[in-house]
Amino acid sequence: MKNEPIYMAFSTQKGGVGKSAFTVLMASYLHYTKGYNVVVVDCDYPQFSIHAMRDRDRKLVETDDFYKRMAINQFSGLGKRAYPVLCSKPEDAIEVTKDMLDACEGEYDIVFFDLPGTVNSLGVIESLSSLDYIFTPIIADRVVMESSLRFASRINEVIVMNKSKRTKEIHLFWNQVDGREKTDLYRIYEEGIATLGLQLMKSVIPDTKRFRKEMSCDHKLPFRSTLFPADKRLLKGSNVAELIEEICSIIKLDGHGR
Ligand SMILES: Nc1ncnc2c1ncn2[C@@H]1O[C@H](COP(=O)(O)OP(=O)(O)O)[C@@H](O)[C@H]1O
Ligand SMILES: [Mg+2]
Repeated sequence: MKNEPIYMAFSTQKGGVGKSAFTVLMASYLHYTKGYNVVVVDCDYPQFSIHAMRDRDRKLVETDDFYKRMAINQFSGLGKRAYPVLCSKPEDAIEVTKDMLDACEGEYDIVFFDLPGTVNSLGVIESLSSLDYIFTPIIADRVVMESSLRFASRINEVIVMNKSKRTKEIHLFWNQVDGREKTDLYRIYEEGIATLGLQLMKSVIPDTKRFRKEMSCDHKLPFRSTLFPADKRLLKGSNVAELIEEICSIIKLDGHGR
């Protein structure tokens, strides 16, 4: 019997809050830096933004000598290939994943689902209720907060508190926090989060331009890439490694199946 991987997602109703960015950052960090075996299931039809990023990344590695050398160095030492990026409709995501896991030879530790923001769309709630953990990026903006808190409390009531569902926990974390001190606004929102019985993570992600840094013809060191982990120099000060470590301890990835 194979070990069942942990299923998780960065998920919320709002678009543009970092779901896909954190999925790629964490998947690449775990797969290429930490040695875990990762799968990403891109369910964000029709953009399939992670799958599209994998295509761009792969093309650059094939055509650009700088990235080609980087890839040879990395993959020869790693002894494994890039993680698979599957595409699926949200309602089929779990089945597509199970089929892939059954058919493959190796074992995987963790599967990331990048689901669309429209919770009411067919299959999204259903797929969310088949995950082990959900992490919700939040931004201190009234419209985003209203929508995120509504989403998180609904998921908490309908899925997490329903013991017949697989989902164990939902956690919120601050993203795109202004460089300056967290203001009173954050404290007010944090009281609201606590009142709703929701859990807030310690790690706070600043608003920083490096999120835009992908692989490109001018040989920028990658931050977001499906073939490489974020460059160490760019990770510093982004709090992304801290966030990932905090998530790993919540989901107990260390002890999982090993
Ligand atoms: N902390 C951050 N600082 C700056 N830009 C960010 C941050 N988090 C996300 N972004 C940017 O916001 C945009 C939307 O992120 P994305 O992951 O595509 O959102 P979603 O998948 O939720 O729609 C992207 O350009 C991403 O790089
Ligand atoms: Mg996205």
